[in-house]
Parts: sequence; C-alpha cells; structure tokens
Amino acid sequence: MIAPVVSLKGRDFIDLADLNRKELREVLDLGQKIKAGAWSERPLLGRHLAMLFQKPSHRTRVSFEVGIARLGGSTTTLSENDVQLGVRESISDAARVLDRYVDGVVARLRSHDDMVALAKASAKPVINGLTDRSHPCQVLADLMTLEEVAGNLAGQHLVYVGDGNNIATSLIEASALTGLALTVISPSGYQPPAAVIERARSIDSGTHTVTVTDEFTNLNNATAIYTDVWTSMGQEPEQESRRKAFMRYQVNQAVMDRAPDAVFMHCLPAHRGEEVTDEVIDGPRSVVFQQAGNRLYAQMALLAEMFGE
Ligand code: CP
Ligand code: NVA
Repeated sequence: MIAPVVSLKGRDFIDLADLNRKELREVLDLGQKIKAGAWSERPLLGRHLAMLFQKPSHRTRVSFEVGIARLGGSTTTLSENDVQLGVRESISDAARVLDRYVDGVVARLRSHDDMVALAKASAKPVINGLTDRSHPCQVLADLMTLEEVAGNLAGQHLVYVGDGNNIATSLIEASALTGLALTVISPSGYQPPAAVIERARSIDSGTHTVTVTDEFTNLNNATAIYTDVWTSMGQEPEQESRRKAFMRYQVNQAVMDRAPDAVFMHCLPAHRGEEVTDEVIDGPRSVVFQQAGNRLYAQMALLAEMFGE
C-alpha cells in the first residue's frame, strides 16, 4: 500500500526516507515546475532560516541562500566558528535558542547523530545539508536530473562507484522510494553498512533492488554511473590509505565505454584525477552541472512544501 501524502509542514528532513513515495513525487514535480518557470510563489515571505555549517560548502550554501530568497524568505549563515555546536554550547541549548529567532534550520554537521539530536531538540523544522551518513538534498536534485535524462525512474539502473557513505546511503533510500535499481560498487571495508540497506528494505516501495559488490560488474545496461570523492570532508588524514583502497575504482573512459548509454554523475566537488578523470567529467555524457543546478529547484520545492501556507 502506498502511504498517503502527509503535509511536510513542521517536519524535519534528515534522511530522504523521511519522505514517502508520494511526498517525494510532489517535491520532484514542484521542482520541475519551478525550473520551468511555471510556479513563482513566495511562500517563505516573512520567514527566516538559520544555516549552520560545521564543514565547507559551495553548492548547499549558495543554492539554499538563493532559493530561500527567491521564495521570499531570508537567512543567517553561521560557520563552524560561530555557534560551535557541542563546544561553546550544547546542541540542545543552541537549538532551543535558535527556535526563538528563526522558522527553521538547515544544518551541515559532521555527525549524523548530532543532526538527529539537533532535530530532536529543535521545535522548528531541521533540514540535513549533509552529514557523514546522508545527503538527502543532493539526492533530491540527482533524482530530478535522472528523470530529465531518462524519464520514469522505476526500472532505470543507477551504478554508484565509490565510498559507501553519505551519497550512497541517500541513493539506497532513493532506490527504495522510486524503484530505481541500484548497484553500489565499493572496495571491501568501504561498502555501505548493512543496516542502511536493511532500513531501506523496510521502506514502503518494496520494489527496489540494491546490489553491493566490490567488482565492476553489471555496467552495460546502466542509465548513469555516479561517483563521489574517495576522501570526504574531514577524512583528510586517511587520504593515502583511501587512495590505495580506491585506486581500482576510478571512473575513467574505459569504465564509461562499458556503459555506452550511461550519463556520468557526481555530486561535486570532484577530486579530478582520483575518482574521475577530466575526460569523463568534462565529456559529453557528464551531467554534473545539471545536478548542481537542480539543487536550487529541488530545495525550493522542498522548502515550499515544508514552510509554505
Ligand atoms: N554537493 C554538495 O553538497 O556541494 P557542497 O559541499 O559544495 O555544498
Ligand atoms: N562525500 C562527500 C560529499 C560532498 C558533497 C563528503 O562528505 O565530503
């Protein structure tokens, strides 16, 4: 049974699977309408959001700031040195203070557990702008992009090559919500945790297939090959060991040649020469800037659903 659409108002958006299939459909449809110029309301008029960043950001910060402004709202962006969550004051104290000033919070935090704690302590909606475990706003934009490229997501085949962390987790949830078949190719020791796959299996679609492997396999029918950095923000001390572990997992022209119909996807920023070659990311099948552009529309749709009248 497909769960009904429940209003997103007052709810948090911590993981993609916080949405049910219909809610996700609504967000993606509204995102396309906004992109097409067919919807230009200002549901955030008079609303103010705080943005908390414990890690650097380009796309997330700018696309949220621009999107909120276009919807009529305003923002205060706070960097690592401002609030100093858990250092200068506890997460719970910071949340209870922000509640008194703002209508919602977009946060990029190192730890997913801290994100959950922030959302729990905050009376206002919290949107996850990336943690170590998930990046749902990115994957909203990725799904928009895949639909632009290939149409109906159900039955398409996405191959993700790389670390089984935040992007992979959100793609696994996307697969469960949309029926997109997903193959995750990661070296042993860097594969997505079994609990993530188990949780996705319990999501309401029941139609997805997720295959996790350490071999480059199953590429020929791929709709898209997606990769992400080998060393995520905060993992820099592990860079050398990660380079060694992931060396075989570069998406280069030879890999793309094995997937003749696939587009190339990357959440960016890219570490060119590591997980992807210039030839591929700058090549004719790359849709990475389309993905980045869609962050704006996907998030505007999400915000309109969460904060609009
Ligand atoms: N893809 C993404 O979230 O980019 P930023 O880290 O620049 O925000
Ligand atoms: N896995 C990357 C994603 C960046 C958008 C990181 O966490 O740094």
